[in-house]
Amino acid sequence: MNNYGTLDSSYIAAGKEVGIRKLVDDFYHQMETQKRGQYIRAMHKGDLDVIKDKLSVFLMGWLGGPRNYAQKYGQMSIPMVHKHLVIGEEERDAWLYCMNEALKYQNYSEDFKDYLIAQLSRPAEAIRRVSRMEHSG
Ligand code: HEM
Repeated sequence: MNNYGTLDSSYIAAGKEVGIRKLVDDFYHQMETQKRGQYIRAMHKGDLDVIKDKLSVFLMGWLGGPRNYAQKYGQMSIPMVHKHLVIGEEERDAWLYCMNEALKYQNYSEDFKDYLIAQLSRPAEAIRRVSRMEHSG
């Protein structure tokens, strides 16, 4: 049994700020180099350095570390910041695929990698659901 969901244990398992920033860099590197990442990479219109910082700061709080997102970037909801994008199963799975590839380059236990992908698939699915409501009909 792991206790990743409690207090800051996931934040620590992810290597705190340095580890999370490396994960996010590797994630976007995968998005840029994997064929499956091309389409979702092209959806990004903003400055990638800013988007990487946003995802990193978000993940730090989400994993039980310092919650600085709202102070730095304002309040947001993950599905709502994506609702202008058309995200179906393919895009959701491409995102999770790039994250899974990036995890191969992290010094994390297999247990924590499995946990992280399972946790991330929840907001990824919520994004898809909201996107479908926004863009259907
Ligand atoms: C389901 C597949 C996903 C796709 C295709 C996707 C795609 C994108 C794109 C294209 C942007 C940048 C929009 C722009 O250029 O302004 C973005 C921003 C962002 N994404 Fe995702 N994303 C996905 C899942 C996730 C998940 C699961 C999380 C969090 C766990 C996340 C967190 C963020 C954050 C924090 C931002 C910055 C939001 C902002 O601009 O304020 N994304 N995403």
